Amino acid sequence: MKRPPTIIAPSLLCADFSRLGEEVRAVKSAGADWIHIDVMDGHFVPNLAIGPAVVEAVKSFSPPLDVHLMVTDPDRYLEVFIQAGATLVSVHQEVCANLHRTISRIRELGVKAGVVLNPATPISTLDAILSEVDFVLLMSVNPGFGGQKFITSILDKCKALHEERLKRKLNFLIEIDGGVNDKNARDLAQAGADILVAGNYIFKSKDYAHAIQTLRINP
Ligand code: DX5
Ligand code: ZN
Repeated sequence: MKRPPTIIAPSLLCADFSRLGEEVRAVKSAGADWIHIDVMDGHFVPNLAIGPAVVEAVKSFSPPLDVHLMVTDPDRYLEVFIQAGATLVSVHQEVCANLHRTISRIRELGVKAGVVLNPATPISTLDAILSEVDFVLLMSVNPGFGGQKFITSILDKCKALHEERLKRKLNFLIEIDGGVNDKNARDLAQAGADILVAGNYIFKSKDYAHAIQTLRINP
């Protein structure tokens, strides 16, 4: 079956924070499908970033907001980010003691629910939840910072997850986050990725529209 072109989600973490509104408008007019928001608590990951006030401030003119919670206790923050304007919310498998409950809660609150795996967490940990999620986010760097090098073994992980999806006739989307650029976008799309997050590759480029175009693949 023919798959639609990849969804491109620039990561706001790598934007110029002194001009956040302008940056959101600029990537939107350059063709961004979603905006990826990295929430970091300084505990699950060694960095602090982006709270609900930013989501609230940009939501009226932003493309759909894809909120990636890199926090130790995501349950505590679901409502606040959803009320602020999140369109999609993802939580890490590594910190959810009751993953099924957390995913159900996100959906009850009216938004799309995703589960995230760090590079070293196997996809078998998701066997029981795959039928419940709207998307799976595979980290292709260890979370915490933009600008890290893409871990190439994620291509095989992505392929395996895509095959599992076909085998079980499920329709969750596959998102990839970390070190995505024009060198790996095609391989990722061919491995089954539907959504590509990119921070530095887009925000450090001179021409956002061109950068986004080079990531958007027709698999
Ligand atoms: C890493 C974040 C990513 C990151 C992407 O913890 O989840 O979203 O900002 O930035 P690049 O594309 O530069 O790796
Ligand atoms: Zn992210």
